[in-house]
Amino acid sequence: MKQTILVTGGTGFIGSHTTVELIEAGYKVVIVDDLSNSKIEVLDGIEKITGVRPAFEQVDLRDKAATEAVFEKYPDIQGIIHFAASKAVGESVQKPLLYYRNNIVSLVNLLELMPKHNVKGIIFSSSCTVYGQPKPENLPVTEDAPHQKATSPYGNTKEINEQIIADYIHSGAAIKSIVLRYFNPIGAHPSTEIGELPNGVPNNLIPFVTQTAIGIRKELTIFGNDYNTPDGTCIRDYIYVVDLAKAHVAAMARVLDKETEPIEYFNIGTGNGNSTLEIVETFEKATGVKLNWKYGPRREGDIEKIWGDCSKANKVLGWKAESNLSEVLASAWKWQLKLREDGIM
Ligand code: UFG
Repeated sequence: MKQTILVTGGTGFIGSHTTVELIEAGYKVVIVDDLSNSKIEVLDGIEKITGVRPAFEQVDLRDKAATEAVFEKYPDIQGIIHFAASKAVGESVQKPLLYYRNNIVSLVNLLELMPKHNVKGIIFSSSCTVYGQPKPENLPVTEDAPHQKATSPYGNTKEINEQIIADYIHSGAAIKSIVLRYFNPIGAHPSTEIGELPNGVPNNLIPFVTQTAIGIRKELTIFGNDYNTPDGTCIRDYIYVVDLAKAHVAAMARVLDKETEPIEYFNIGTGNGNSTLEIVETFEKATGVKLNWKYGPRREGDIEKIWGDCSKANKVLGWKAESNLSEVLASAWKWQLKLREDGIM
């Protein structure tokens, strides 16, 4: 058995897939989640896949005493993967202080508790949002590309959190960190036991696509077709959530077991860009389902095009995104069908 890892937000979309990969790699996992945006039944899915039910504590990480009690109850925790955060871009514009409190206080509490409880490493969930719209000559974007001012409080919390970790390590704190900057995670576990479970109307493209395909939404609107891209729609780097989960396992092994710089940054994507229209067409081809869609106006705050240069993660973490887009979109559809079968959606 390898080390014990605290996974915050472990019942969420990326957190649950990462928990599965950690368990399969031999780690012991303790999940902390306040269940504000996920369901306890996710633990059943993790158990069905791995045969192991991870320890679970329903804790709000803004509550430092309750968070400290977790480290006291599980004194073997050596690493943290910190997913727990509010993540809706639009909501963050409406409720900025909620986002600053949730996303910043939680991280500060964890960092303060780490040295005291002998926790050596933290993997932080960051986002390609820190790059804003890279200049054309900076695409695909590398980790050294300049950061741009965030267009939402949500994006700003990612930037601020990265700086908080860097400042704390710079101050001499006895911890190490790997910051993973994700591109767009999509898809669901091949077992269909876990997947994405959006609350209400999805903001993200893929759940909107699958919900439209199954008839929960009337039609998909592609936001803008007058961008400076080959087909006029936005371009993103869509990465399979299982590949993304595996990047966390590689990062955890590196931060805990290797002599490395105290803080490192990695882009986690496929290295390829796909347009929104390509996603719609690939989805239709992969699933045989016709999608009802139309073009609409641009969505405020959207960037035109971004995809990642992930060669640093390939080389240093020994990790590579392996899945193909058609299969990943088919996995998202299979998950949507399972939600229907189970009467969840
Ligand atoms: N899109 C549509 N119609 C929809 C939903 C999305 O056309 O109904 C388009 C968007 O305009 C965008 C692409 O699909 O071009 C992807 O949109 P998502 O909302 O799925 O993802 P984003 O790239 O906008 O957002 C992601 C993360 C956020 C993060 C942001 C930073 O989900 O958490 O990147 O760039 F803040």
